[in-house]
Amino acid sequence: VFRLSFATPVEWVARVETDPLALLSDHAHCELKAAASAQALIVKNPSRTALVSRMAEIAREEIEHFALVAKLLTARGGALVADTPNPYTESLLGRSHYGRVCADDARDEMLLDRLLVSSLIEARSLERFHLLATHLADRELAEFYRALIPAESMHQALFRELALECYPAERVARRLETITALEGDIVSKLPFAVRMHSGLAPVEVVRPLVPR
Ligand SMILES: [Fe+2]
Ligand SMILES: [Fe+2]
Repeated sequence: VFRLSFATPVEWVARVETDPLALLSDHAHCELKAAASAQALIVKNPSRTALVSRMAEIAREEIEHFALVAKLLTARGGALVADTPNPYTESLLGRSHYGRVCADDARDEMLLDRLLVSSLIEARSLERFHLLATHLADRELAEFYRALIPAESMHQALFRELALECYPAERVARRLETITALEGDIVSKLPFAVRMHSGLAPVEVVRPLVPR
C-alpha cells in the first residue's frame, strides 16, 4: 500500500473552510492543470501507446472535474479568479529530475519522474479530499469532495502503474521512495494559504535590518 511521507494535520480543514470560494477556485485550476499536464504527456510521448490512451482518459476526466468544481463555485455565488504560481507543484517539479535541463539521453529519466510526481500530486489531492469529506462542517461541500475520491484514487495508482509498464520495478521503487520523501518535505514546509496544496508551516518573519 502506498503511503505519503507527511500527514496533513486535521486543523488544515478548519483553516481552508474560512474561504470555500477561494478553495474552489484554486481547486478548479488544479483540475485544469491536471488535464493540461496529461495532454502535455501525450505530446511528448506520442509513440507510447498505453500512455497515450490513458492520458487521453485522464485529460477528459480532469476537464469533467474542472466543470463540476466551476459549476459549484458559480452556484455558490463565486467566480474563478486568476491562477497564481503554485509553490507546491513548482517545488516538486523543480526538485525532481524533471526540473533539470536535460540532454536527450536523460529524457527517459524525466518521464519516470514526471509520472511519479503526478502520482504524488494525485495522492496528496486524495488525502486532502478525504480530510475535507470527513471534517468539513459544510456538509454539501464535504459530500462534493467525497464524490471525487474514487477518481483521484484511480489516478494516483494509474500513474504508478504506467511507470511500472515503462521502467524496471526496482528503479521505479527507488525513485518513488525518493520522490515521496521529497513531496513530504515540501508540503511540511509550505506556509498556509486557502489552496488545495497548501501547508501549515509558520511563516518565517524576516526582521528588517536596523541601521545602528
Ligand atoms: Fe481530478
Ligand atoms: Fe486526478
